[in-house]
Amino acid sequence: MKDMSYKAVMARQNEIMRQSLGINYDDYERGGIVFDYEAMMRDIGISIDEVVTIQRELGVGDTPLLEVKNITALARKIAEPGFGARILIKDEAANPSGSFKARRAALSVWDAKRKGYKGVIAATSGNYGAAVASMAAKLGLKCIVIQECFDSELVGQPEILEKQRKCEALGAEVVQLTVGPELFYHALQLLEETGFYNASLYSPSAIAGIETLGYEIARQCREDYHLLPDVVIATQAGGGNLTGTARGLLKAGLRTTKVYAASVDLSGLSMASDRDFNRKSFTTGHTGFGIPFASLPDRSDVPRNAARALRYIDRYLLVKQGEVFYTTEMLASLEGIERGPAGNTSLAAAFALAQTLPEEQTIVVQETEYTGAGKHPMPQLTFAKQNGVHVYIGDPEEEVPGESIVLPAHPSLIRVRDYDMGRLRASALRRLTADGGPWTDEELTYMAEEIHCSVEEIKAMIEH
Ligand SMILES: Cc1ncc(COP(=O)(O)O)c(C=O)c1O
Repeated sequence: MKDMSYKAVMARQNEIMRQSLGINYDDYERGGIVFDYEAMMRDIGISIDEVVTIQRELGVGDTPLLEVKNITALARKIAEPGFGARILIKDEAANPSGSFKARRAALSVWDAKRKGYKGVIAATSGNYGAAVASMAAKLGLKCIVIQECFDSELVGQPEILEKQRKCEALGAEVVQLTVGPELFYHALQLLEETGFYNASLYSPSAIAGIETLGYEIARQCREDYHLLPDVVIATQAGGGNLTGTARGLLKAGLRTTKVYAASVDLSGLSMASDRDFNRKSFTTGHTGFGIPFASLPDRSDVPRNAARALRYIDRYLLVKQGEVFYTTEMLASLEGIERGPAGNTSLAAAFALAQTLPEEQTIVVQETEYTGAGKHPMPQLTFAKQNGVHVYIGDPEEEVPGESIVLPAHPSLIRVRDYDMGRLRASALRRLTADGGPWTDEELTYMAEEIHCSVEEIKAMIEH
């Protein structure tokens, strides 16, 4: 009998990872802090065109790129003359399980099947679980989803319950946990017991699956709209969405397109706190995940995270909860399209950003998910009120996460707010260099790639 205590299972972590993913991460360590990210991605062994073919066979991808003319017109009405960039949305709700996560799951589950695993396990807040369940159903593998569903009173946030229902409907066994640090332990335990594949959100296959999203945006912009996008906005949580998209744009040859992250500002709320768990209205795409993952990607459930967003982020935009609810309604009432909160986080940022850019420019927004009973503003706002959050109409600038949600009294009150990239890079650098120095040239080059700046800038930052 193996020792299944917390300490013993955690101590076997590397061995469990090797067995459950078929990857030896040590192969990519190059001494000191350097690790060969590109070699790890290359070793998946298939080209992006082959990924596209695999996804097509699974009914994933090739989603519409739609122009939201009425929203663009509204942005132009508010903006100074000559300003108001054109906004296009990439409608990822058209994927089988209703979100862009289908791209990630398609390649993970395909990888599990080619490596001979009988089933897959995903630890997730929901959309990804549904996507893995959907792909496992299609490819005939078993699926277990581990999800933090409740606070300690067993009360569940409507969006989380919505996603739990969807995972089950798609045939997964859902292990429902209360919020806390035991998620990873349970995942390891189940991986070891079942011998299933670790369908981690952060494996190289998962990220390669998202590259097709950027690749498609580039193709559709060229072929359908005869333009190159100036900005692509991706909602940021764990960073896979942005990383995969940016890599796909680069593989399509788009080197000048800027990639901006967008997250809901939940500063002040702790993601691990039982009390705060049900005082937030957004369960992904918020700063509670977005900022820590951008500055320390390897805090994930694999030894080396293939989602390394800071390598690609040009700007990091923050929006308020009330602005996202408003934008959700704006998309429905001006364009006749209802979509989920995660994608509308980017759309809210795009609406404000568009007003600062000339009319000739184009912003592509990743509209990353479907909406459903639990994701809709109505149950979300009702739940927020039940949890003592003050919901009112006014200036979103006044919003205090966990205490208030302020729906903008006028669309001009939706604003562009930048998270300080200097601060983000400094924090990432601090974590990378925690173990000392002096640094070799290879290490300095590696750091520069990791935090998306030059070696000279790194040297200056280290000196300070
Ligand atoms: C619908 C949707 N959009 C965006 C995101 C953010 O993606 P990532 O975690 O890869 O940054 C998520 C992830 O949780 C999601 O489910």
